[in-house]
Amino acid sequence: MCGIVGVVSDNNVSEKLFNGLANLEYRGYDSVGMSFIKNGRLTIRKGVGKLQEVHKKVDFLKLKGSIGLGHCRWSTHGGVTQNNAHPHVDCKKRISVVHNGIIENYSELKRFLIKKGHKFYSQTDTEVIAHLIEENLEGSKIEDAVRSALKKIEGSYALGILFADNPGKLIAARNESPLVVGIGNNENFIASDVPSILRHTNKIIYLEDMEMAVLTKNEAKIFDFDGKEKSKQVDTIKWNAEAAQKSGFKHFMLKEIYEQPRAIADTLNGRLENNHVVFEKEFGLSNSFLKSIKRIVILACGTSWHAGLTGEFMLEELAKIPADVEYASEFRYRHALLDKQTLVIAITQSGETADTLAALKEAKKYGVKTLSICNVMGSSITRISDGVIYTRAGPEIGVASTKAFTTQLAVLYLFTILLAKLRDTLNEMQIRDMMEGIRKIPLQLQSVLDEDKEILKCAELYYNKQNSLYLGRGVNFPIALEGALKLKEVSYIHAEGYPAAEMKHGPIALIDRQMPVVFIAPHDFYTYKKVLGNIEEVKARGGIIIAIATEGDKEIPKKAKHTIFIPKTLYTLSSILSVVPLQLLAYHIADKLGHNPDLPKNLAKSVTVE
Ligand code: M6R
Repeated sequence: MCGIVGVVSDNNVSEKLFNGLANLEYRGYDSVGMSFIKNGRLTIRKGVGKLQEVHKKVDFLKLKGSIGLGHCRWSTHGGVTQNNAHPHVDCKKRISVVHNGIIENYSELKRFLIKKGHKFYSQTDTEVIAHLIEENLEGSKIEDAVRSALKKIEGSYALGILFADNPGKLIAARNESPLVVGIGNNENFIASDVPSILRHTNKIIYLEDMEMAVLTKNEAKIFDFDGKEKSKQVDTIKWNAEAAQKSGFKHFMLKEIYEQPRAIADTLNGRLENNHVVFEKEFGLSNSFLKSIKRIVILACGTSWHAGLTGEFMLEELAKIPADVEYASEFRYRHALLDKQTLVIAITQSGETADTLAALKEAKKYGVKTLSICNVMGSSITRISDGVIYTRAGPEIGVASTKAFTTQLAVLYLFTILLAKLRDTLNEMQIRDMMEGIRKIPLQLQSVLDEDKEILKCAELYYNKQNSLYLGRGVNFPIALEGALKLKEVSYIHAEGYPAAEMKHGPIALIDRQMPVVFIAPHDFYTYKKVLGNIEEVKARGGIIIAIATEGDKEIPKKAKHTIFIPKTLYTLSSILSVVPLQLLAYHIADKLGHNPDLPKNLAKSVTVE
């Protein structure tokens, strides 16, 4: 939940750390800090607030040194204070540590260290690591001291460690929190994600759990916790640094919403062949297995969970496979019944969400086959799954997930076609229609984006409302949930998503002249007429109706105060189009309210703690 970056170089590293942190800020932004070593002296600057706010006070760029660490914090243990900000140090202030994760046995270790005479100045779990290394350092090499400390700590961590007395070495370690090593020219890096160091290198080593890296400016060596050197693959990343920049947009969220036509086109690229869906070799699941499965269980959190619900609809409706969607955080603690004819799918943008990772590990205990749908290559979840389908959204920096969601829907749709074909649940013509339908989506998304002016108008009229309801049915019920989540997380306005017909069982009591009600009501043969009835019910009670409707719909504009049109498409695909106006609405409302939608309060992009 925090971001870490580290560099060892033959020149000054302050700007690299600063830019790295600017890209990592989505992971945590309640406090920020950096440490450097120069002439055998450890210098630390840190403070409470976002990077730019703290920078104004301490001028990070003034600091000099050819080795350093940076950290942006999303607090877990200890309040948001100057003392609790990272980097943390040992008693002698010769060791500097940055950490992302949670040390579960820190209280016990802290008691032990206090008895040994160590003095603590923060309430964090991280500080014990610095003291524990100090405790083990007497007469040992720094690598051995770190290793001994790691063997005593329990929990999740990505760590960066500097030693004032060894100014040429940066040590890093990982267990259940993401960490990559970047190989540069006369410099090497560590970081919580790839985009934060992409402008300096695209040569990446993904650290695995229980691995330690020892970096000098010319070398990067990886060891297990027993000190045995490991040979690791160096991956070349194809994303370019530009993809992680705002490119003229006011916020990443807006840029990422506007990138969706491109992101979907990339996600489809090479995967639609004549009347077939083809995935790459990482897909890893055989046709015979896919024919044999009796059930699919989908594990995910947040927006990815909403994608799962939409996937459930597609899989049951079209591939005729029973599907269940579970909150990963719940699944991991209950004794689910899984057998070998069940396929478990994890959906995750980051591939690092702690609950999804733990739920997937839990599922694997039953010996089931697993597939992940993920945006980040080489992330933890992809490495423990039997198969992977990558969404190709490119780096998603805004905390509120947008292009990752629609690309997840696109992948679920492709996977549904593949299964429907293998299991003969649709005929050739139906498959062709489905493939034609998705091919048109990138262009159709562009025309949804063209509605932005109308959406902005709605935002300007209603940004000061305190509550709102989002209602949809069938494949668009999860879109109602997603629209409400988007609004809550970036604008802090209370919003609820409901199946439209459930409204009369309770939420209808909330409707009055102050309540915006967003209907997701594209035309379909199943529920459209019923939704029209629900719209009437809201209208009769004075609610402010904003409707997402299919182009050419004559009925809805007569009833709704505002109608945003999406192009005509297949019913299952309408969700990819209908969510976009809701993303834009949430964005504009947050912006009107003066909130930064890229860094919503209390949230972090990848939730790598439980
Ligand atoms: O990286 P993941 O897809 O596993 O993340 C899951 C959720 O934390 C994430 O979707 C979260 O709900 C977003 N902030 C929603 O915009």
